[in-house]
Amino acid sequence: MAEFIALIPAAGSGSRMGEDLPKQYRLLAGKPMIYHALHTLCSTERIGTVCVVLAPDDTEWKRYDWSEFVGKIKVLNCGGATRAESVTNGLKALHAANHVQDHDWILVHDAARPGLSHALVERLLDQLTDDEVGGLLAVPLADTLKRADKAGRVQRTESREYLWQAQTPQMFRTKLLLEALGKAHAGITDDASAVEALGYSPKLVMGDAYNFKVTYPQDLKLAELILQERIATR
Ligand code: C5P
Repeated sequence: MAEFIALIPAAGSGSRMGEDLPKQYRLLAGKPMIYHALHTLCSTERIGTVCVVLAPDDTEWKRYDWSEFVGKIKVLNCGGATRAESVTNGLKALHAANHVQDHDWILVHDAARPGLSHALVERLLDQLTDDEVGGLLAVPLADTLKRADKAGRVQRTESREYLWQAQTPQMFRTKLLLEALGKAHAGITDDASAVEALGYSPKLVMGDAYNFKVTYPQDLKLAELILQERIATR
């Protein structure tokens, strides 16, 4: 039977955060940011293994105590220059070591989305387990979309009908994901777009606003509030 394996690429430098410390280690609710997604994924019973892909020169990981996740996590220091490279390197290493099989489901989740809840992971697993292709969490666009000209003035208003914002986890079978990432062009920013480039249509599964990606310094405050509330009600 196919297994569910989560893979967290965590080899980014977080340059848009404007700090030396990679953002996955920024403290949120008293823990490094990556802890929160790890906690959710590791405590999801159906997920057998959670693999964390760090940069080869990562010096932060070992500063923290991860013992509560022992038995469930695998840490690999094989991150690459881009997110896609980090996912590819991690997945290839797991595959080469026989830790994942071609038909196993891989849930790729950004370390920078600490607001992932159990409910969302369960919904993703429920809706995709029998799917031919796989898919991703996403939310329909809420704002009105403006296309700008080079001078920063509105050229036109775009229809937001059928537009969704992609989130993670993105869930595909090992074989398809390896093939897609192997053929992907350099600019891709998520796994689904690599799969789309092969001609497949991944399924959109409803995410939520709490699962946003912490990107800019102002995102930290919101993430802190969400996580503090969640920890208080655990
Ligand atoms: O920078 P961004 O927020 O798009 O990164 C998304 C995820 O990809 C983060 O978890 C980050 O650590 C990871 N990443 C990676 N290797 C890179 C760049 C980003 O694992 N070279």
